[in-house]
Amino acid sequence: MSEFAFAIGDVKLRHGLMLAPLAGVSDHPFRAVCRRLGAEYTVSEMVSAKSLCYEKKSRAAVAERSKTAPLAEVHADDVPMAIQIFGSEPEFMAEAAAMLVDGSYAGCRSAARPAAIDINMGCPVHKIVSNGEGSALTRDIPLAGRIVRAVCAAVSIPVTVKIRIGFDADHICAVEMARELEAAGAAAICVHGRTREQMYRPGVDLEQIAAVKDALHIPVIGNGDIYSAEDALHMKRETGCDGLMIARGAMGNPWLFAEIVAAMEGRAFAPPTLEERIETAIGQMRQMLAEKGERVGFAESKKQMAWYIHGVKGAAEARGRLMTAPTPDEVERVLRGLI
Ligand SMILES: Cc1cc2nc3c(=O)[nH]c(=O)nc-3n(C[C@H](O)[C@H](O)[C@H](O)COP(=O)(O)O)c2cc1C
Repeated sequence: MSEFAFAIGDVKLRHGLMLAPLAGVSDHPFRAVCRRLGAEYTVSEMVSAKSLCYEKKSRAAVAERSKTAPLAEVHADDVPMAIQIFGSEPEFMAEAAAMLVDGSYAGCRSAARPAAIDINMGCPVHKIVSNGEGSALTRDIPLAGRIVRAVCAAVSIPVTVKIRIGFDADHICAVEMARELEAAGAAAICVHGRTREQMYRPGVDLEQIAAVKDALHIPVIGNGDIYSAEDALHMKRETGCDGLMIARGAMGNPWLFAEIVAAMEGRAFAPPTLEERIETAIGQMRQMLAEKGERVGFAESKKQMAWYIHGVKGAAEARGRLMTAPTPDEVERVLRGLI
């Protein structure tokens, strides 16, 4: 048996554990924590292809204030990482992908280059779907194929795609879509085992993920409802998938990666102590402040801090105090008070 679960281009993954793209969550500080705890591959928050293209054409002053560029930044300590783009027009998608790979987009400060370009064909949010983007592409498989062909032609790194199993229960199309994307040049497909209509409700269709795995020659990554090592092993066993992508299970519990690695290696897992949880949370908040500035970093960090104390004695009251805390020092006091 190979020493590696699978590879995307030259990136070999030993356990095949990946942190999913999470808009508003999987920023660099969170990715860094997950990577330290066993995530071998991360994906950026989704980036609008059109915004990247328009910003490039706008004046330099606008580029300075770019909201898009920080989302696409690849940090040298955070590789391999894929950048995820969303959009529905093959030309914009191709142009954006090329800029992300050669670093020519407005406001690029990346020290490193992405390992892959990932294409979002699963986002269920109304604003995205009504533009024909994200999971709307499950309703137009030929267009999905044209997007992948255009992006593959524009870049020399692997192109991966994240899909849902269909738009709704009457339109399950995972196998048909995955076949088309593979033929179009995709290097791997991640399947979130739900339809767009299901949003994030419980109940992931492992049979559809297994059917995609059976139908394709490229690696297939299973995604959906992995909250424990048992869930991870179950997903692998039932679907035969090559890799696992974890989203909500890691929010507030990045140790899930370490737990899964331990289970895969047949080792016992020692859960983090409360001190470790609190110190990890505080470290992440401090890094968010340093990278995003006090105002934005502090506002964005509060929800993450609240997730870290889920299930801890006194968490309900502490969560209220966290949300109204006026300063990072006060957040630290509230968190440390739980120890
Ligand atoms: C807050 C949040 C943000 C998300 N952002 C993205 C995104 O930017 N791109 C994407 O492809 N999926 C996104 N997703 C979907 C997840 O990557 C994942 O497919 C989904 O949550 C199912 O996995 P899970 O059951 O492990 O959470 C997001 C999900 C959540 C909860």
